[in-house]
Amino acid sequence: MYDLHAHILPGVDDGAVTPEDTLAMSRVAADTGTKVVLATPHRKDVTEDWSVAYLRSLIADMNLQNLADGVNLSLVLGMENHLDTDLPGEIEAGRALTMNGTRYILIEMPFFGRPDYIEDTLSEVQDMGLVPVLAHPERIEAFQRDPDMLTRFIEKGMLSQITSNSLIGFWGEEVRDFTCCLLKNGMAHIMASDTHHATGGRSPRMDVGLEAAADLIGYDAALAMLVDTPKAILEDKTAEIETPRRASTCPKTK
Ligand SMILES: [Fe+2]
Repeated sequence: MYDLHAHILPGVDDGAVTPEDTLAMSRVAADTGTKVVLATPHRKDVTEDWSVAYLRSLIADMNLQNLADGVNLSLVLGMENHLDTDLPGEIEAGRALTMNGTRYILIEMPFFGRPDYIEDTLSEVQDMGLVPVLAHPERIEAFQRDPDMLTRFIEKGMLSQITSNSLIGFWGEEVRDFTCCLLKNGMAHIMASDTHHATGGRSPRMDVGLEAAADLIGYDAALAMLVDTPKAILEDKTAEIETPRRASTCPKTK
């Protein structure tokens, strides 16, 4: 499997703290069927305290560490980019990273509220030739209140990434039900772990999410969210996705 959202680099954000944490997370991922993890530190933390060059050196070091410890997992570099009006400029400046250097970019919408720059800034990013991949829409209030906003974004060419633990109720029943509904309506394109720790509810395990998704949409469609589509993204190929159905029937959680 391919995990495209993970806070696995040590010491740069609220995920792994030490290289030992990174190793433990890598081991759990590898042992549960993941072979590539896109490290996605928060853009804000990197811009304020670190640099892209430092991230690249960390990726190289952590891959060497995995190799030395016999953990069969490769790490590649991305970033979780919070959406604000400076994002297009930061992409231009090389401080906001796409996913493994491809046209795809992981974007986290504001968790609360619906600031009026959302549509325009996402359009600006698309006008740069990039494809926004919206991080965990099931946890974003604007989508919870208005699921059809997500449908419209997908119709404009954006993709959505649900989190494995949302499907098994880590964020509560309402988020779980909303996630199931997005899945059944063809509005979830990839599943990722958004891991922060080696163990517990935010571990890198995606096998549990795969199982839960398979119960809802069938094994092949579920597996495509964890293998075919994320692999196409990392290789900068066109992701084959189905046409979304209107999600207005999904339970509103707010
Ligand atoms: Fe995240």
